[in-house]
Amino acid sequence: MIVLGLETSCDETGVALYAGDRGLLAHRVYSQTEIHAEYGGVVPELASRDHIRKLVPLLRETCAAAGIGLKALNGLAYTAGPGLVGALLVGSGFAAGLAYALGVPAIPVHHLEAHLLAPLLEPDPPEFPFLALLVSGGHTMLVDVHAVGAYRILGESLDDAAGEAFDKTAKLLGLGYPGGPAIERLAGQGRPGRFRFPRPMVDRPGLDFSFSGLKTYALTTVRANQGDAEAPADIARAFTEAVVDTFVIKCRRALRATGHRTLVVAGGVSANRQLRAGLTALGAELGVRVCYAAFEFCTDNGAMIAFAGYLRLAATVRSDGAFDVRARWPLAELAAPGA
Ligand code: KG4
Ligand code: ZN
Repeated sequence: MIVLGLETSCDETGVALYAGDRGLLAHRVYSQTEIHAEYGGVVPELASRDHIRKLVPLLRETCAAAGIGLKALNGLAYTAGPGLVGALLVGSGFAAGLAYALGVPAIPVHHLEAHLLAPLLEPDPPEFPFLALLVSGGHTMLVDVHAVGAYRILGESLDDAAGEAFDKTAKLLGLGYPGGPAIERLAGQGRPGRFRFPRPMVDRPGLDFSFSGLKTYALTTVRANQGDAEAPADIARAFTEAVVDTFVIKCRRALRATGHRTLVVAGGVSANRQLRAGLTALGAELGVRVCYAAFEFCTDNGAMIAFAGYLRLAATVRSDGAFDVRARWPLAELAAPGA
């Protein structure tokens, strides 16, 4: 069974082919970063228009790389939400039209479920059940994962997502968009111990997060150290340490509460090496296996959509040609395939 995956929820156009017996056959991602950089964030209308331009060429390239034609497809998976509605409609309309023409099902995929399952694309994948830390540009949550579609949200961010905190702090430091990779590079040059950012909400019980205070703290620190050429790197370092510490504290707490022996870390921020080092050290201390997706599958991509779509194919057949998208879509509303 071969499934095509299409990702268009935000500013990356992703196309991939996944085969049940052979795994990932080929994938392509086109990032619109340059288009949005001059605005300091994603402009939804520009994102939609660029997805329209890129889907067909990327699909051709992906099929050529895999050496298969469209007739070999058994299903078309597309990101149905959450995300920017215009951008979602480009991918879903494209998928629904092509699925109708090919006479195969179109499979709506939840973007966060796809992120969460992306580490299962790796060799020696984690086994259910596990604790998942999902850290992306729009969401931050701890999830108790029992099976595909069986998700219990244990905690989430009450305000900014972790990726958003990276992006906003990067903006304050005069770094470009997206801010995560830029902060990671700068933090590597920063000196430890010069600044200490607060660890939000770690003194309170529970597993929720709050990151909006960090950007305010960053702003105050930037203002107090104007003209100091070394301050930005030291601030990036202190900011990252606060985020990493917060996740280590909350993951330790969630692992204790659930008793899980596996921690899966997914989403764009899981590409951060300092975060990986912190969580991998926690795993070593507790005897817990810590799993990540390959770096290229942490941020938005088509491979995770093709894979999640493949896993759901049996249960989500739509033959009526209709399709839906959802700008907001709580992960906990999902059910197991076939349920
Ligand atoms: O998962 P993703 O590609 O998109 C959403 O579903 O939101 O995540 C994008 C987010 C951005 O906020 C970006 O700054 C952050 O992931 N990010 C990083 C790194 N790479 C991407 N944050 C910290 N360190 C990184 N290396
Ligand atoms: Zn994403």
